[in-house]
Amino acid sequence: MQIDILTLFPQMFQSPFSTGLFQRAIDRKLVRVDIHDIRDCTHDKHRTVDDYPYGGGAGMVLKPEPIFEAVKALESGLSPKQEERRVPIILLTPQGRLFSQQIALELSKHSHLVLICGHYEGIDERVREHLVTDEISIGDYVLSGGELAAMVVVDAVVRLLPGVLGSEASPLDDSHTTGLLEYPQYTRPQAYRDWGVPEVLLSGNHAQIAEWRRQQAISRTLERRPELLDKANLCLPEKQLVERLKQPQ
Ligand code: ADE
Repeated sequence: MQIDILTLFPQMFQSPFSTGLFQRAIDRKLVRVDIHDIRDCTHDKHRTVDDYPYGGGAGMVLKPEPIFEAVKALESGLSPKQEERRVPIILLTPQGRLFSQQIALELSKHSHLVLICGHYEGIDERVREHLVTDEISIGDYVLSGGELAAMVVVDAVVRLLPGVLGSEASPLDDSHTTGLLEYPQYTRPQAYRDWGVPEVLLSGNHAQIAEWRRQQAISRTLERRPELLDKANLCLPEKQLVERLKQPQ
């Protein structure tokens, strides 16, 4: 997958993408991330990227020309075949659709993504109307710019690409992939202080372990994020379990 990120602060991306799982994915050529400085697409002495809002008001607004030009420069590097597949051009903004595991999965199917990090008070509306194909928010709060949001999106997407997680690890069990939160995990030592590990996990009985995990995922989701259960794919006995768990103990 090719990911292009347009930003006013390229230096912010140095460390997150040169660490651990990410660096490995880049080294193995499973993903390529190119960071582009929007200021490189300005043509005045001061490399101006923003201006006062028409109609007045506080703050500055990102100008359209450098952003259109930066995206155009990327598109001219695409082969016609890639262009046909329509590369998503995603603006990170608190006004976007709320990011989720489902959206991460959807984005992971593309071979190329372009992310635009907004800044200042806003971005000229013509960028939204005529350039951007998708707008994503990572939560109902306002960050000082789209950079951290872009990192969150890229991280969640890249770990879903085939081969990025080790062979035994599976993103299919992740919290939210199944519509449920993940079951509790334990590792050695078997006894730590006075605290043991649930017997069933030591039993070697894989069917029982799978059932225990599924039940734990359900009860944990009910306890912490009950609204997720409405959309989870539960069978009848599991729905009955939810009803039993809801009864006061
Ligand atoms: N830029 C500023 N706040 C944001 C948010 N919550 N999500 C995505 N981009 C943003």
